[in-house]
Amino acid sequence: MLLADKKLLITGVLDPRSIAFFAAKVAQEQGAELVLTGFGRGIRLTERAAARLDPKPDVLELDVTQPEHLAAVRADLEARWGRLDGLLHAIGFAPGSCLDGGFLTAPWEDVSTAFQVSTYSYVALAAELQDLLAVGPGAVVGLDFDAQVAWPGYDWMGVAKAGLESANRYLARDLGPKGIRANLVAAGPLHTMAARSIGTIGAFEHLWSERAPLGWETRDPEPVGRAVCALLSDWTPAITGEIVHVDGGVHAMGGPVAPVAAEGAGPDTAGSQGA
Ligand SMILES: NC(=O)c1ccc[n+]([C@@H]2O[C@H](COP(=O)([O-])OP(=O)(O)OC[C@H]3O[C@@H](n4cnc5c(N)ncnc54)[C@H](O)[C@@H]3O)[C@@H](O)[C@H]2O)c1
Repeated sequence: MLLADKKLLITGVLDPRSIAFFAAKVAQEQGAELVLTGFGRGIRLTERAAARLDPKPDVLELDVTQPEHLAAVRADLEARWGRLDGLLHAIGFAPGSCLDGGFLTAPWEDVSTAFQVSTYSYVALAAELQDLLAVGPGAVVGLDFDAQVAWPGYDWMGVAKAGLESANRYLARDLGPKGIRANLVAAGPLHTMAARSIGTIGAFEHLWSERAPLGWETRDPEPVGRAVCALLSDWTPAITGEIVHVDGGVHAMGGPVAPVAAEGAGPDTAGSQGA
């Protein structure tokens, strides 16, 4: 099994639609032992989702903006396992003012919240757990939405993801000498609670239906969960600072997959011999 005997911390399971829930499910199928984290009032939902996993993992409280929560998670894992083989950061949040056309008007307090939760916490969590990960080989994985271009409605969350992509490279630089890898999975659009807060998810769906050469199922996060597990495993020992796109191939396309006929071209125009 890909993750036999691995001890993993999986953050970001809110409900059974969460990308992290699928990563957790696949990780258990592949032999890993898990601890989950839950946030704020959502922790009751996390407990409920955890009960659908077998065996039910323990759930620790973690608000990534609270340094004492980070320290408590570290203390728990140290007492429980004395090491950590892998960590999934599946956490993102931006206040509504930062999304859906708010790019030019969002106030700094809201933008800073988006950055703290969605970008900075990736580094803060890995830094807090680095000694436990260094026992390994350890692996850190985060979840990205391709930040090379500007997307409809994604606004400051897109900028936060661009920061995450850069932070991942610096994390790879600083943790690599300790034997810890850091990689991101850039997922295509998926119908999760976080995605529902972005009004333009429909526009993404349309784009993906046109541009994904492999096709894309917005209600199936399992392919993303599988890629996360591959990066947490010993099968990617020399990969770090990387962004793996699990998006049906959209990131590599410059336009729709099906060729668009140029005006006047086609089998019946001059120069064509017809069928
Ligand atoms: N759904 C998509 O289309 C998509 C695509 C690419 C990347 N992503 C990324 O995947 C990750 C997981 O999102 P998801 O789509 O599974 O949605 P989700 O709503 O299921 O998960 C988001 C998680 O972030 C957690 N969170 C928010 N603020 C927090 C805080 N202060 N402290 C700790 N946890 C906090 C929530 O509790 C929740 O578990 C996010 O980083 C998101 O940006 C999502």
